[in-house]
Amino acid sequence: MTQELWTRVDEYTNSLLLPSDAVLDAALAASHAAGLPSINVAPNQGKFLSLLAQLQGASRILEVGTLAGYSTIWLARALPKSGRLVTLELDPKHAEVARSNIERAGLSAQVDLRVGRALDSLAALVNEGVPPFDFVFIDADKPSIPEYFLASLKLTRPGSVIVVDNVVRKGAVIDAQSSDANVRGVRRFNEIVSQTPAVSATTVQTVGSKGYDGFALIRVSNP
Ligand code: SAH
Ligand code: DHB
Ligand code: MG
Repeated sequence: MTQELWTRVDEYTNSLLLPSDAVLDAALAASHAAGLPSINVAPNQGKFLSLLAQLQGASRILEVGTLAGYSTIWLARALPKSGRLVTLELDPKHAEVARSNIERAGLSAQVDLRVGRALDSLAALVNEGVPPFDFVFIDADKPSIPEYFLASLKLTRPGSVIVVDNVVRKGAVIDAQSSDANVRGVRRFNEIVSQTPAVSATTVQTVGSKGYDGFALIRVSNP
């Protein structure tokens, strides 16, 4: 079982289930043209996130890690017209590309893109006392996943859903001695989740055009 096979299976299912989409294609093209890394979610993963947000009936979505806004567009499309998505990005250059992609997607009125360190932006959201988010997607720097998760708990309600990307890392996550700060971040996150009574959580390993990785899926429950 190889990367080539995973990619071909993605191509096969995407050809049937994901109609070609000029807005998403343009977003990826603009991202590439600006020299941003191709670390966006895969198209079928973007649709998976969008479907999850729709199943959740989300009208308020929080995203940590915007890049060029590819996952942002998928998620914002799950919103009702009155819905809102707040997305957090550190790099002003990434944010500029994202802003233009979100504008082209016709989603600017629904998307609030905040530039700065996500931890600061999350603290600001807590201070502002914003209404709880129904759905959170954590996909920024991996060493800080535990802190993003803990902040998300302050910004959600019982019944909210939190999805975390890149929690398997080609299987490296099983290495308790790992010196990789990303792996250590994921492992510390898993420990915290395991010790948080007010959540129910699982991990889904994924293979496909973006290699071997995984999502954590968490439902916030009553404390
Ligand atoms: N969710 C995007 C991909 C995000 S890539 C998609 O699937 O389309 C991760 C992003 O997190 C990068 O753009 C990076 O600049 C940003 N990032 C890294 N550290 C950050 C921090 N401390 N605060 C906010 N964003 C950060
Ligand atoms: C990286 C980040 C991601 O969010 C991802 O999905 C894949 C790779 C990275 O930083 O290398
Ligand atoms: Mg990711």
